[in-house]
Amino acid sequence: MNFFLETLMVFVFSVVYNLEAFFRMFIPARKKSVAGEIVLLTGAGSGIGRLIALEFARLGARLVLWDINEEGNKETARMIKESHGSRAHTYTCDCSKREEVYRVADQVKREVGDVTILVNNAGIVTGKKFLQCPDSLLQKTMEVNSIAHFWTYKAFLPAMIAGNHGHLVSIASSAGLTGVNGLADYCASKFAAVGFAESVALELHASGCDGVKTTIVCPFFINTGMFDGAYTKWPSLLPILEPEYACRKIIDAVRRDQVYLCIPRFIYVILALKSILPTKLGVLLGTYMGSFDFMAQFKGHQTKSD
Ligand SMILES: NC(=O)c1ccc[n+]([C@@H]2O[C@H](COP(=O)([O-])OP(=O)(O)OC[C@H]3O[C@@H](n4cnc5c(N)ncnc54)[C@H](O)[C@@H]3O)[C@@H](O)[C@H]2O)c1
Repeated sequence: MNFFLETLMVFVFSVVYNLEAFFRMFIPARKKSVAGEIVLLTGAGSGIGRLIALEFARLGARLVLWDINEEGNKETARMIKESHGSRAHTYTCDCSKREEVYRVADQVKREVGDVTILVNNAGIVTGKKFLQCPDSLLQKTMEVNSIAHFWTYKAFLPAMIAGNHGHLVSIASSAGLTGVNGLADYCASKFAAVGFAESVALELHASGCDGVKTTIVCPFFINTGMFDGAYTKWPSLLPILEPEYACRKIIDAVRRDQVYLCIPRFIYVILALKSILPTKLGVLLGTYMGSFDFMAQFKGHQTKSD
């Protein structure tokens, strides 16, 4: 194609896509039905994973619940049964272990069928400064929060591509978009999760597979216990999110085939500023926003003995 025509096309489409994005601010895309879809959630035994599972079940999807915590996972299944009368399939699986993921994935395919919506949600946080964090925990964080996604995609994506139907959901974090003092290992793992999900989405696009959708979720702190003690200086701009709100936004984003979801919206502003401001000004604004102290009082999940 010649240079003039190609450049003209880019201009025309940039107007069209900008108008479309503007229009979508007032009239959002229709929500697709997820009834009958087979939804597999990792980390379904508590927090956001449990809420997402309950909501998908309410919408008529068939649920496959994975967690390392067998009791929590069974409790989610029991809640689904009680609230919606449907049976969820529970599997105890440590998704950081490649062979275990492949073994349990085969079991799911035999017992339930091909997964059509995969939600990589399982996650851990050490909350330790990098030099104080034992090597084994640094490694585990990477294995659970990002490398596990390789194995689940390898296990379930081929059938989605073959049927040109499916949805990959990555529950990442705003810590996967900008570094945070005191969260070096967590940020590394979430940046990796975002980069991986984004790249596979582009691979799908380049290969013309338009039936497999992707959603990357980047929330600020959510009040699930995982980040207990984390602090926000300006809660009106950066509130600690309620799990029910985060869950509602995530399900809506999936049903509207939204590619990126940052919550609260102010995360989009931070991301834009980070890309355009001089570094010193970025650091000054970060200090003003209290970002250096987010993790100062971090306690994390509290057990009964704490
Ligand atoms: N809570 C927040 O503030 C927050 C903010 C942004 C992103 N996130 C992300 O959201 C996701 C869910 O977090 P949450 O707040 O519900 O936390 P949570 O601790 O309540 O839930 C995490 C679940 O993952 C499970 N899990 C941990 N390691 C596992 C493994 N190896 N294999 C299988 N399951 C495993 C846990 O047993 C638990 O049920 C995580 O990926 C987290 O990083 C959380």
